[in-house]
Amino acid sequence: MTEYVAQDALIATRLSKVDGEAGQLSISGFALEEISLKFVFEEMIFLLLYGDLPTSAQLDSLKKNLAAHRQLSPSTIEILKIAIRQNLGAMDALRLAISGFTLADSEDSDEEAVKQDAIAIIAAFPSIVAAYWRLLNGLEIIAPSPKLDHASNYLYMLFGEQPINANSRALEIYLNTVVDHGLNASTLTARVIISTRSDILSATVGAIGSLKGPLHGGAPGPALNMIFDIGERSQAEPYLLAKLMKGERLMGFGHRVYRTRDPRAIVLAKATEEMYRAKGDMALFDLARHVEETALRLLAEHKPNRVIKTNVEYYTALILHELNIPKDLFTATFAISRVVGWMAHCLEQKRQDRLIRAKGFYVGVEGRDWVSIAQRGD
Ligand code: ACO
Repeated sequence: MTEYVAQDALIATRLSKVDGEAGQLSISGFALEEISLKFVFEEMIFLLLYGDLPTSAQLDSLKKNLAAHRQLSPSTIEILKIAIRQNLGAMDALRLAISGFTLADSEDSDEEAVKQDAIAIIAAFPSIVAAYWRLLNGLEIIAPSPKLDHASNYLYMLFGEQPINANSRALEIYLNTVVDHGLNASTLTARVIISTRSDILSATVGAIGSLKGPLHGGAPGPALNMIFDIGERSQAEPYLLAKLMKGERLMGFGHRVYRTRDPRAIVLAKATEEMYRAKGDMALFDLARHVEETALRLLAEHKPNRVIKTNVEYYTALILHELNIPKDLFTATFAISRVVGWMAHCLEQKRQDRLIRAKGFYVGVEGRDWVSIAQRGD
């Protein structure tokens, strides 16, 4: 099979295809709308790391492999305690904990060895986030359960009880939906680091830093705050209008690539609606729908030259809230999924083995004359 290589900032990938005009996303050739609802999350991990659907034996083996790497070492727990003493948020704690890992990966490891490291990193993310949260709240850390899958284990380690199937499934749909998305900022960060022949731990640490920003993975917390601040339907228009008049951004709207509704938002909106309906209380969902409709109308009026539609973060906020995941863990929960995409891109970048260098263009002054410091005046 021909392996395409990156040229300057143009990067070839077989992992996901984002069509911003049509509003379509496929993962390894499969439509996201289909697989996000049908897959267990481990199937998604397999597809991204190995490029194909797993057989049931391959899926079992991957599940066992993940289970073998879920338990945190005492030194990782110590690092999390330090992070908490320093008042660090979940993403910074995650960054610090991952920095403290030692893996077998090295510049000349073969692909399978790097893949094993990638699986170890993926397995550890939910354990780190849950342990951080429990320690922060003065609670005992809960060891992962060998009987539970990746999504259920996260909820179990956070809350200490086995989640009901509907909650595990809702989380799994969320994890499937946000797992990979072309050359987004955090994935690109990871690939740039790997392209220098650095290691996957460094790439993971860089990607965590990139995802943390409010224009990327940090949006769902503020999106939920916005809905709660609005509180009732009559307040949606004055609240959103005031924000736009102040030049502020409405969180959960707009995307660099999509010029139509983010297809992930469509999947998550449906899953969220079903979840709220099954729980028998639609009040928050209905308010969120009203806020969304109002925001879209106002954005179209106030930014007529720009198509700004709902992005994935808007419904992420609602689904994670309904799962009782604290707002402070929203971005870290996103990272639990996206780390799989990062790892797959790191492996692909390693195979391509070409340094990524962005093409800049100089816009500064040319041909200036140097003057000595004595001649520069006061
Ligand atoms: N609310 C208000 N105005 C917006 C919004 C928004 N959500 N998004 C874009 N705009 C406006 C900008 O203010 C700017 O207006 P101007 O030309 O009058 O100055 C114009 O649209 C273009 O802005 P850019 O930042 O250049 O647009 P881009 O498409 O690159 O932005 C981004 C994408 C950064 C996601 C932006 O839409 C945004 O800030 N959204 C809010 C944050 C958010 O929801 N982030 C999550 C993204 S999804 C993800 O990362 C998984």
